[in-house]
Amino acid sequence: MMLHDSLILLFLLSDNKTLDFEASFKTLTEERDELKKKLTDFVHYSQQGWKYFNGSFYYISSNMKTWNESRTDCLQRGADLVVVNSEEEQEFINRYQKRIWIGLADSEREGTWKWVDGTPLTTSFWHSGEPNDYEGQNEDCVETRFFNEENGWNDSICGQRNFWMCEKKMFL
Ligand code: BGC
Ligand code: CA
Repeated sequence: MMLHDSLILLFLLSDNKTLDFEASFKTLTEERDELKKKLTDFVHYSQQGWKYFNGSFYYISSNMKTWNESRTDCLQRGADLVVVNSEEEQEFINRYQKRIWIGLADSEREGTWKWVDGTPLTTSFWHSGEPNDYEGQNEDCVETRFFNEENGWNDSICGQRNFWMCEKKMFL
């Protein structure tokens, strides 16, 4: 239906009808294939219990793992640990009311916080007093710990076991 209508519209609007028609047809065929793949992915992730929110799918674990094990789990699911880019996303995570690993660590360089997608930390939601490498411990991984407050992040020991959240970006 939509494809057919678009083709007719493009056909009517063009001067060099045959050429434009062929070019449009190729573009539309490609777009159709992309949409088909997105739909397949969408159905797949929904059926696996992932939640869609603001352009991403999210998976919340039901067991607890270390930060590294959590990240490996996400990668195996075709995703990565969640990268928090907005207040809305932070609130979304907090709603689970669990201590959850997020995709933020300073393991490479102490004090330089880096997201798993390689981006540096710009908007942060540290709890007051954090990050603190508590009592001289090496706390290189970030969890949402004070989840009843928007600023709920805590740096924690990466080997500790927490729930974790994976994120898979998917724009429709
Ligand atoms: C945690 C620290 C945290 C502190 C906050 C401790 O139990 O291990 O990471 O900074 O609590 O009071
Ligand atoms: Ca801490």
